[in-house]
Amino acid sequence: MLTQHELQQMGLDVLLVDHPLVQHKLTLMRQKEQSTSQFRGLLREISWLLCFEVTRDLTLMDKAIETPVQAMHAPVLDGKKLAFISILRAGNGMLEGMLDVVPSARVGHVGLFRDPESLQAVEYYYKVPAQIEERLVIVVDPMLATANSAIAAVTRLKEGGATNMRFVCLISAPEGIRAFNEAHPDVSVVTAAVDQKLNDHGYIVPGLGDAGDRIFGTK
Ligand code: PRP
Ligand code: URA
Repeated sequence: MLTQHELQQMGLDVLLVDHPLVQHKLTLMRQKEQSTSQFRGLLREISWLLCFEVTRDLTLMDKAIETPVQAMHAPVLDGKKLAFISILRAGNGMLEGMLDVVPSARVGHVGLFRDPESLQAVEYYYKVPAQIEERLVIVVDPMLATANSAIAAVTRLKEGGATNMRFVCLISAPEGIRAFNEAHPDVSVVTAAVDQKLNDHGYIVPGLGDAGDRIFGTK
């Protein structure tokens, strides 16, 4: 796994969340003997921590409140509610954890699958919250491999009016980060790990296999 320093030296624009709890939980997830329910639970827990990182710089405003002791001005989130966009179907495994942390967020879905031969993303569903152009949009998908899916999703969201986006994933490949940075330099990337490379089938090595299958127990 690459460190933040190594990523910078490679010219990759990505924030690596190397918190020990994230790294420990990710190691548990990678193990092939992990059960579907444990895998799903761990992804949800890691998503809490990734959510804190990707929202770290949200704007606050002061609100007048009264505690049982006295009146005060206290910070609350400013602006329109966030929009979380899940890239189906594996994005839904992260979405649950993100919504645990920000339950008021609006939710959208972009349905994409990777053609196994061409590795190109094929869209089959698109539905996002109203006033998407006024919201901070956080796109979630556990895997950034070739980045074809993430690039297609963000391109589609831009066509739909989104202007302020971030992308959060669990494991990424250096090739995918580079491609995503080139396609969407305005969209920051947050990840829990950057692995070695892609194999001939476009899978992340060492990775964790097919995220969707492991979340939903479909293989
Ligand atoms: C997986 C994953 C990403 C994509 C990453 O989805 O959840 O969306 O592959 O690969 P890429 O960066 O090379 O595009 P998949 O296409 O397997 O669909 P699924 O979530 O429905 O299983
Ligand atoms: N999609 C996955 O689910 N896993 C990979 O390693 C690559 C793409």
